[in-house]
Amino acid sequence: MSQPTNITDQFGRVHNYLRISLTERCNLRCTYCMPEEGIKLSEKENVLTHEEIIYLAKEFVKLGVNKIRLTGGEPLVKKNIEKIIRELTALPIQLGITTNGILLDKYIDLLKECGVKDLNISLDTLDKDKFVEMTRRDYFDRVMCNIYQCILAGFNIKINAVLIKDQNDNEIINFIEFTKNNNVSFRFIEFMPFDGNKWDNSKVVSLNEILEKVTSHYGAGQLIKLDDKQHDTTKNYCIKGYEGSFGVISTVTNPFCDSCNRIRLTANGRIKNCLFSATETNLLSPLRAGEDLVPHIIKAVYPKKKSRGGMISDEDFQDKEKNTQNRAMISIGG
Ligand code: GTP
Ligand code: 5AD
Ligand code: SF4
Repeated sequence: MSQPTNITDQFGRVHNYLRISLTERCNLRCTYCMPEEGIKLSEKENVLTHEEIIYLAKEFVKLGVNKIRLTGGEPLVKKNIEKIIRELTALPIQLGITTNGILLDKYIDLLKECGVKDLNISLDTLDKDKFVEMTRRDYFDRVMCNIYQCILAGFNIKINAVLIKDQNDNEIINFIEFTKNNNVSFRFIEFMPFDGNKWDNSKVVSLNEILEKVTSHYGAGQLIKLDDKQHDTTKNYCIKGYEGSFGVISTVTNPFCDSCNRIRLTANGRIKNCLFSATETNLLSPLRAGEDLVPHIIKAVYPKKKSRGGMISDEDFQDKEKNTQNRAMISIGG
């Protein structure tokens, strides 16, 4: 039988982008990402080792994956992260990392040496006290310092802020002002529902609300719509004359599933064919049994639902019965 050449779902979407969650552990405790009491971590022996991660990445690359992003928990707390970065960057892929930024200073040289350019860094507020409130940890100064270091080092930086009504939505203009002299993309993320994060639709700050605020502050003539790349999660804009740009990830009010090219691999070796998939495919057992993984991967992605794990309408998405049939975000990695 001839080898399949790519990973396609029932709607013909081709999947060439793998997001690997390296660990369920994190050095922050963001309220929107995990329950206060924490989550039950996978047994240590059920977590993919560095060798297994590299083996699996190679299997996916054989099937056409050409972009990999490392996520977590916090990927930089993973044991052997240096080896993982070195070995993944030896593959014919573009490697990106999504991180909370706390440990970035330790890895700048390594990332440069390995040619990793794309860093997505979380920063939900420019206020030190609010940072502690939102993340339950006091690392604001360190994260800011690392963001500036990475800007100076020339990385391609996207900053992620999950907007929550009455918590940090009063900072939208300050965030955009950060892009005046800093060449970063500041992304506002609509707050999404996951297990244990006390999501409520009334806490979502929508794409439309954000654009209204921006237009009323700067004036419609100053707001420029930028081109969005084919598989981008973000609707991109900039303010005339500003060095950086900003964008909105509008999963709740304007999902972008038609162009989805993403597969997820969890730290305990499960494939999630969508960020919101209620079902998962165990790849760890066949991997450890020495089976051919290709049929498992193909079979996992084919039935992927059209949008948001099957929660197509707003009503579905807001239904607690439906939107909690998933993991806590900390163990998916975004
Ligand atoms: P790149 O395009 O590789 O830069 O990744 P990204 O910007 O989409 O991902 P990042 O890890 O920075 O995540 C930013 C936000 O986008 C997080 O809230 C993610 O949950 C969300 N996100 C990432 N991938 C998807 C996706 O496939 N679907 C949806 N709905 N949201 C996503
Ligand atoms: N809704 C939207 N984005 C979230 N993230 C974590 N939890 C949520 C949520 N409930 C973001 C993080 C990080 C990215 C991987 O996912 O802020 O930037
Ligand atoms: Fe893809 Fe699911 Fe995200 Fe939609 S919600 S873009 S289908 S991963």
